[in-house]
Amino acid sequence: MTFKIGLLGLGTVGTGTAEILLDTQGRNSLLQEIEIKQVGVRSLDKPRNVQLPTEIFTTDLEKIVTDPEIDIVVELIGGLEPARTLILKAIAEGKHVVTANKAVIARYGDEIYTAANQAGVYVLLEAAVGGGIPIIKPLKQSLGVNRIKSVIGIVNGTTNYILTKMTTAGADFAEVLAEAQQLGYAEADPTADVDGLDAADKIGILATIAFGDRVKREDISCEGIRNVSATDISYADKLGFVIKLLAIAKIHAQHDSLEVRVHPTLVPKTHPLANINDVYNAILVEGEPLGQVMFFGPGAGAGATASAVVSDIVNIVGLLKSSGKNKSLDPLLGCSHQHFCSL
Ligand code: HSE
Repeated sequence: MTFKIGLLGLGTVGTGTAEILLDTQGRNSLLQEIEIKQVGVRSLDKPRNVQLPTEIFTTDLEKIVTDPEIDIVVELIGGLEPARTLILKAIAEGKHVVTANKAVIARYGDEIYTAANQAGVYVLLEAAVGGGIPIIKPLKQSLGVNRIKSVIGIVNGTTNYILTKMTTAGADFAEVLAEAQQLGYAEADPTADVDGLDAADKIGILATIAFGDRVKREDISCEGIRNVSATDISYADKLGFVIKLLAIAKIHAQHDSLEVRVHPTLVPKTHPLANINDVYNAILVEGEPLGQVMFFGPGAGAGATASAVVSDIVNIVGLLKSSGKNKSLDPLLGCSHQHFCSL
């Protein structure tokens, strides 16, 4: 049985994803049953660094999401539109979806998961938060029996890279941002990183999973790192702190309220999040009865993020194989109850 993929987007993460799918040796054996059938790109003329036949490239992304032979649409174009419309169209066509698109899920997760439930398809998003760190599935499934009290993390690799270099090397903000862009960490518009918007999207998604609450993206208060100066960093250091851009979601049981915010934070040097440097992300989850658990790993970049994308593809293939590719899926198994709470 071969499972056919329609890949939307061949940028940093798309290229990393194709590379894993094309080089299967020593990896999960299900990869050998996956074929990239079509790749949707903005320009056919751009030189590509990946061994894919040119005839599978198209600029007609709608054609991919409606292709009856495609089983799984992998959305890696980012941004709100046309990504949201293409995801919904793919779902309506009965296709499973893997996406790394935190902006779309943070705003339209409710609409997308309602549609997926109705269609009985999977929508997986491991790559949307924490790059290569497995956090979505563990938070929903492995930690699902806990009462979650807080989820606190460094969830943006670009800003952590910038703050680290400013702290350890006294580097200049603009120079390090350009470096992070070159390394493929930053968003197409790095404002989303620098101003904390990307981190706010991510903590919105994690808060929804952890607290099963309706977290409206516009209610998440958000301040980025633009105003963090070398002087702030040096004073923080003298007082025993480092400055980190933290994304915080905390339940206040006594008020029955949920607080979700993103801002530069003074973190004591002895705190586990203080030593998460460069592009690394970490997410500290506190639950009852579990206590604290921390997820740590590379939070951005082609290989790390592609690892999460491909693991979602393989998960879907595994589920389809066990349920039979052509059988209609149990909608509960198919989506939000397993992987994402209703927004
Ligand atoms: N721009 C994002 C970051 C990419 O720097 O964390 C990974 O989501």
